[in-house]
Amino acid sequence: MRVLVTGAGGMVGRAVTEHCLVVGDLVFPYDHQSLDIADFESVTRALNHDEPEVVINCAAWTDVDGCELDPGRAFSVNAMGPENLARASRELDAGLISISTDYVFDGKKEGFYTQRDQPGPESIYGLSKLEGERRAQLAYARTIVVRTGFVFGPGGTNFLSTVVERAKRGEKLKSIRDAYGTPTYGLDLALRLRELAELDLPGIFHVVNAGAGASYEEFTRAALDLIGNAATLESIHMDSLNRPARRPRNSRLKCLLSEAIGLAPLPFWKDSLSAFVSMDSRVEAAAEG
Ligand SMILES: NC(=O)c1ccc[n+]([C@@H]2O[C@H](COP(=O)([O-])OP(=O)(O)OC[C@H]3O[C@@H](n4cnc5c(N)ncnc54)[C@H](OP(=O)(O)O)[C@@H]3O)[C@@H](O)[C@H]2O)c1
Repeated sequence: MRVLVTGAGGMVGRAVTEHCLVVGDLVFPYDHQSLDIADFESVTRALNHDEPEVVINCAAWTDVDGCELDPGRAFSVNAMGPENLARASRELDAGLISISTDYVFDGKKEGFYTQRDQPGPESIYGLSKLEGERRAQLAYARTIVVRTGFVFGPGGTNFLSTVVERAKRGEKLKSIRDAYGTPTYGLDLALRLRELAELDLPGIFHVVNAGAGASYEEFTRAALDLIGNAATLESIHMDSLNRPARRPRNSRLKCLLSEAIGLAPLPFWKDSLSAFVSMDSRVEAAAEG
């Protein structure tokens, strides 16, 4: 397949690029510097030049508090970006997959959010991402929106790598006990994105690892257990952080469509976390010589 990847320098973009290369695709990876998805002319130029069969949009402004303070930038990247890609993909008749977020939900529901639940974002980040979903779908019927959450994996400064590094330095760690999500391994997500590209079934998919989900505290504890670090976690309430943007208290996702079309569930999050942690320590050991 000819696959164009945007945001290819980010955590998910790197995983997608790597996976597509492994399965033998012809990949056109664009990081932020080489393609700004907010710039329609550049988007059109890149797509027309590469003639991809599918575009996988992994680009976004993911700084949730930053978005709250600069809504203009949030909407130009997270809302106009997917629309630009949708319009350019439509011209070429290329498939489009655009990644969205669990933060489109308000978090007030008990249990899992499915595609039947009405989004109601409470942050500018969530609002801009929801607007991106809608604009892309409106511009191009062949759009696949993939919502995910709590993504961990190699590359980028993600929550997990920061925690693990600080624990190894013996620093005291705080962890939120009252915000729940469905942890998702970037490599599992990449695999499913590629499968969805093949299937070419437009709609909204929720793609997360299997299991009942976890709070940040449970997730952190599980990661520290896996690396054999007995650091004590100070358990805190989400609101005590006084961050500019509100986050959903519960943003656990479940996919009705994947089940209905017979896609196997992704592995349990603890198994994927274990795979990631052991891979990460092998990489670290190799780097240390
Ligand atoms: N990580 C999570 O827990 C999580 C949860 C739910 C949904 N998601 C979604 O998953 C997708 C991938 O996120 P990620 O975790 O891989 O985040 P990431 O590591 O921050 O990657 C996003 C990439 O997009 C790039 N970017 C920002 N603005 C851009 C623009 N205008 N044009 C082109 N590229 C731009 C960033 O480059 P610079 O850093 O150089 O600006 C970055 O490399 C996003 O749609 C995100 O909303 C992530």
